Amino acid sequence: MQASGGRSQHTDGDADERAALQQVATLVARGASPPVIFNAAASALGRLIKADYTTINRCETDQTMSIVTLYCAPGVPEIKIPFGGRWPLKPDTASAKALRTHEPARRAAEAIHSEIGDWHRATNVGYVVACPVIVEDRLWGTMACLYIGSRPPPGDTEERMGRFVELLNSTIMQAETRAELIASRARLVADADATRRRIERDLHDGVQQHLIALTLQLRAAEANVPSGHDELRRQLTDTAEGLSDVLTELQEISRGLQPPMLARRGLPAAIKALVSRSPVPVELHIDACERLPEKFEVTIYYLISEALTNVLKYAHASAVRIDLKSDDSQIRLRVRDDGIGGADPARGSGLAGLEDRVQALGGTIQVTSPTGSGTSLAVTIPCPS
Ligand SMILES: Nc1ncnc2c1ncn2[C@@H]1O[C@H](COP(=O)(O)OP(=O)(O)OP(=O)(O)O)[C@@H](O)[C@H]1O
Ligand SMILES: [Mg+2]
Repeated sequence: MQASGGRSQHTDGDADERAALQQVATLVARGASPPVIFNAAASALGRLIKADYTTINRCETDQTMSIVTLYCAPGVPEIKIPFGGRWPLKPDTASAKALRTHEPARRAAEAIHSEIGDWHRATNVGYVVACPVIVEDRLWGTMACLYIGSRPPPGDTEERMGRFVELLNSTIMQAETRAELIASRARLVADADATRRRIERDLHDGVQQHLIALTLQLRAAEANVPSGHDELRRQLTDTAEGLSDVLTELQEISRGLQPPMLARRGLPAAIKALVSRSPVPVELHIDACERLPEKFEVTIYYLISEALTNVLKYAHASAVRIDLKSDDSQIRLRVRDDGIGGADPARGSGLAGLEDRVQALGGTIQVTSPTGSGTSLAVTIPCPS
């Protein structure tokens, strides 16, 4: 009887573990942001092990740990992430022992003498159990369960924690990989935007100014041509006009690089200017904040600009509708045309580039384009807080 009772308890434990793990895995599959995933992982472990506080700590290269998340169980006093989110990995901490031995380790707070011990005592934490997080054979960090009071946690805590953290390892790796991917995409897009701005400035301050000066010199020479040299005057006039054309072309190119209207008059005005140049009629609905941070405005501007260019080039559409909405939590943009459909990001670089831009801001883009039924571009970007 006893044996079967014990087994059934174990089975319940397994089911709890699976359910907790499932919640975290679902978030990963949905593409939730790494902080959301870490938070879910910490709360899943905390609930399972019945800890008062649970932290996830990442090893840094300078013998410190970054606290990537702190979960407080319901009903316990809320505490804030200490030490500005980064603490020195002192040898007498549970995390240090777990990382040394590659095994879960427990420490009584009274046996921890550094500032970490002081913090535990100040927050009434009596015990800490830490478990190493090993990602692809690399010591990534630790998950630590903290217990208020002097009663030690149950003897099987290390084993249960070890089992669950092992299951979580691949989830943490996926979240970490996604975070790195988002960061590297953001770097690429920011680099490209910075290069564009530099070229625009160089054109404006350098080449354009030089061309203007040359045109003025030519006009002066033209005015000084003595009478009777009509052919020479005509040549100078032609050359000066040619230079003016080059100047206009150059101004158009540099305007295309970074729309000055965007910086000067804001996103709605810049979108209206874009729309007014579209030969296909556009119905525009904007219900968005006047100003968003620059990288958000630039991304939305390029999304609409590329979508309208594609409509013109391929869609054979008679109408386009643009909806732009923003609230405290997200920005939503939809561009729809009633053309021939069949858009395929794999065939060009425009739509793929938009995907890079949107993902660099942690957002998503969906292209729906059934043949014969028009094309819709739906973008959601989480708002900057
Ligand atoms: N609105 C649309 N209607 C119909 N087909 C489209 C539409 N948008 C894109 N396409 C199709 O999808 C392909 C990919 O578009 P994408 O913008 O990625 O590349 P591109 O326009 O061909 O090149 P690039 O944007 O790099 O100059 C296009 O070549 C075109 O065949
Ligand atoms: Mg294109």
